[in-house]
Amino acid sequence: MSVEAKSFPVSFDALEQEAKEKMSTGAYGYVRSAASNEETLRKNAKGFEKLAIVPRMLRNVAAVDMSVTIGGRTYPYPIFLAPVGMQRLTHEEGELASARAAAAIGVPFTQSTVSSYALEEVKQATGDSPKWFQLYWSRNAEVSYSMVDRAEKAGYEAVVLTVDTVMTGWRETDLSTNFSPLKLGFGKANYEYDSVFMAALQAKDEESIIQSVLENIHYPELNWSHVAELKKRTSLPIYIKGILHPEDAILAIENGVDGIIVSNHGGRQLDGIISAIDALPTIVQAVDGTIPVLFDSGIRRGTDVVKALALGAKAVFIGRPFIYGLSVGGQAGVEKVLENYIEETKITMSLAGISKASDLLSLKLIRE
Ligand code: FNR
Repeated sequence: MSVEAKSFPVSFDALEQEAKEKMSTGAYGYVRSAASNEETLRKNAKGFEKLAIVPRMLRNVAAVDMSVTIGGRTYPYPIFLAPVGMQRLTHEEGELASARAAAAIGVPFTQSTVSSYALEEVKQATGDSPKWFQLYWSRNAEVSYSMVDRAEKAGYEAVVLTVDTVMTGWRETDLSTNFSPLKLGFGKANYEYDSVFMAALQAKDEESIIQSVLENIHYPELNWSHVAELKKRTSLPIYIKGILHPEDAILAIENGVDGIIVSNHGGRQLDGIISAIDALPTIVQAVDGTIPVLFDSGIRRGTDVVKALALGAKAVFIGRPFIYGLSVGGQAGVEKVLENYIEETKITMSLAGISKASDLLSLKLIRE
């Protein structure tokens, strides 16, 4: 760890400010911003503020166990790194640095389809540490199956199928800066490594590759039949990311998925919608313990982790905060962000009178 604790920004706001100074206007705007009027982005944070923990005292919290079991596997903390594409925008080592940080701390890494390093390169950089693969369904379905096969071969442990991105949201910041990291080629590594994708290309120069990535990545025809088909094609567990309606949670179970990630994509896709934390209890209730429910969108500190788990999430994904850590300090910066989240979560659990993460469902929350 080369980042000095004293000089490293602790709060989210300070981290965001420091990342802003490190990044180009276009790249920072791309990471920070959200869709349309950014109502959902703000609501994600407000949703947490409205929830108040009612702590318990005198419960011997000397030993805190933060481990959680999801899909039969136990993880030391209820914290994952969210799939974030094109991380080389933020730091030259991109996904290699953040995956190494996740491995060093003991947190699972989720590799995006549109990464700047291929899933095989990330595997090589990190060995057997837990990794999940996030799939953006390709217009050419054979490319999707091929990527999932490659992930399975490389030892990735689950597929996260993101379903809220059948097209890019109306992102006014990126439109005004005319910034598209995909068009700049930051998201092509997994495609370039894919023999099925490359075989379908007429010309194999960089421009043709990027053009074909752009044509493949958005697939508005996506529907539940694709989920059922994917389930048949892979033995990896499938988690659906982007569910907000309880009826979609039921459909997910009916179509054989192994877990749900309640998420509104950090407000980047559809604006004016329910905050993710307000959607969580309705999904947990609909799922009724059949499959694990995970959560992201708006986690900014350890108290948020505890609130999400108290509402029934098994674990949470960290998004923008670790990307800011990456931009400020590379691998060491991501490690520092994770250490801070883990420590604040532990302190929050202890002071609220809960010594096991698996007991957090018993923690009382009220709406203020
Ligand atoms: C994302 N997210 C995302 N999700 C996904 O499934 N695949 C992807 O490639 C990306 N890429 C991406 C890039 C950037 C810059 C951001 C900020 C986010 C969404 C991500 O997984 C997660 O849902 C949100 O980041 C959660 O919101 P917060 O906590 O960042 O506000």
